[in-house]
Amino acid sequence: MLQCENVGLRFKDRILFKNVNIKFDNDYCYGVIGANGAGKSTFLKILAGIIEPTSGNIIKGKHDRISYLVQDHNAYDNDIVLDTVIAGDKELYDIKLEKDAIYLKEDFTEEDGIRAGVLEDLFLKKNGWQAEADAAILLSGLGIDNSLHSLYMKDLKETDKVKVMLARSLFGNPDILLLDEPTNGLDLESKTWLEEFLLDFKNTVIVISHDRHFLNKVCTHMVDIDYEKISMFVGNYDFWLKSSELIQKQMKDSNKKKEDKIKELEDFIRRFSANASKSKQATSRKKALEKIKLDEIKPSSRRYPFIEFVPERLLGKDVIRINKLSCELEGKTLIKNLKLTIDNTDKIALIGNNEQAKTALLELIYNNSNSINYGNTVSISYYPKDNSKYFDKKISMVKWLEQYSIDTDETFIRGFLGRMLFSGEESLKNVDVLSGGEKVRLMLSKMMLEKSNILLLDEPTNHLDMESITSLNKALTLFKGVIIISTYDRELIDTVCNRVLKINDDGTIIDFKSNYNDYLKKYGGENE
Ligand SMILES: Nc1ncnc2c1ncn2[C@@H]1O[C@H](COP(=O)(O)OP(=O)(O)OP(=O)(O)O)[C@@H](O)[C@H]1O
Ligand SMILES: [Mg+2]
Repeated sequence: MLQCENVGLRFKDRILFKNVNIKFDNDYCYGVIGANGAGKSTFLKILAGIIEPTSGNIIKGKHDRISYLVQDHNAYDNDIVLDTVIAGDKELYDIKLEKDAIYLKEDFTEEDGIRAGVLEDLFLKKNGWQAEADAAILLSGLGIDNSLHSLYMKDLKETDKVKVMLARSLFGNPDILLLDEPTNGLDLESKTWLEEFLLDFKNTVIVISHDRHFLNKVCTHMVDIDYEKISMFVGNYDFWLKSSELIQKQMKDSNKKKEDKIKELEDFIRRFSANASKSKQATSRKKALEKIKLDEIKPSSRRYPFIEFVPERLLGKDVIRINKLSCELEGKTLIKNLKLTIDNTDKIALIGNNEQAKTALLELIYNNSNSINYGNTVSISYYPKDNSKYFDKKISMVKWLEQYSIDTDETFIRGFLGRMLFSGEESLKNVDVLSGGEKVRLMLSKMMLEKSNILLLDEPTNHLDMESITSLNKALTLFKGVIIISTYDRELIDTVCNRVLKINDDGTIIDFKSNYNDYLKKYGGENE
């Protein structure tokens, strides 16, 4: 059991939510939804006890253990896979770290000896020596091969990273599992796997997602963050959508009736308040009028950003020629002898099981590899899958975007940010606190200002809410330049792409000069 009692959170003047009184019961699966920046991750961090609410309390069962999978899948990139899992039992991991640090000391004192003894005891009680073996069994059970256990997280593909992070969350046998956008970057097969896993999971799950299909499949309840409120509904996403539309309609209908009544009363009062014989009735109707309260219907915070990519200069005939490009990672071939000519009308869907190969190709094209010839009209913008390195400085959004704009006038930058849904004081916020989707919106703003004629996009829809995905999709269909995109979003591929480039597992390439539907008819393989 997990309960919110009058929980509220504000950052300076901005209220994310207030007076939250909801209860999560055992064994259900709750889907948390809301626009980018609504406060979903913040709410999960409050439930996990990582941040304190500004008001109210979180009450949890005395023995309930909570674990939490973070939104950033690159969060543990510099850790070894097995350690990442063991660290899921924080208490045990902290004991191990402290113990190891004491043994490494050169001036080992008597006090250290006593402390080490205490720690050894605790470690034994928590079955510490068994931990590595347990972690390995858990990983293997989730399909992570033994050969990957000693690698760094950064060398894993995203689907495997999610599985390791899930193993980390499961390691302490949690009663309540909190998951922040676990489906980001997952291909269809891995997403289905995760759905099955959660359907079989016996304890409570609270999961954030923007993926309708996923929410419909796994959730018993929806938790919606909007209008500074958090409301809980029984049912899956589609059920929530229908019932919230119905509630809005009922509120509008009832307001319409009340407005008619108000008008009728006002007319009466106006006509008869000067009339001595009717003035008594006019007074009582005034009282009736005061009692009618209209329901407050706030516009939803779900809005569409304005995304538009306009190239400064159109591409000439000569675009990109790739001649015998090969690439390896740790001795494994990613790309083998790629020969490719890109035309100025190409919108290429980059597909294949090996995410690292797709990312490597986009990076090689962006970074002017030796085996690539570029036409002299070419200008390239790149959306990398991992954008964390762009956001490590504590500077405001306005200052951040200024770096990428020729026009550095603050009014211009603020106006631009406004169209990307960062209004007023919001645009003075530091970039390091931005939500996952807000960071993506800023990266897209940067690309819009660059006015390039080639767009390289590596999983750009991860983190975005449905409205932003719709805006991005529309912008890409209207773009008058070349696109090379790696995405699992089928709609995006179908509406944008006219050529398919598949990187096979051995690094060889299938170059198919038609759309994805035709590709599937010829080669099959929906899961890619
Ligand atoms: N420390 C902070 N100071 C000020 N504002 C913050 C801070 N941390 C987060 N925010 C803001 O609070 C809002 C909610 O952030 P949060 O990460 O919870 O959003 P989210 O609903 O998870 O969005 P997304 O779907 O994009 O991941 C955002 O506008 C974010 O910029
Ligand atoms: Mg979030």
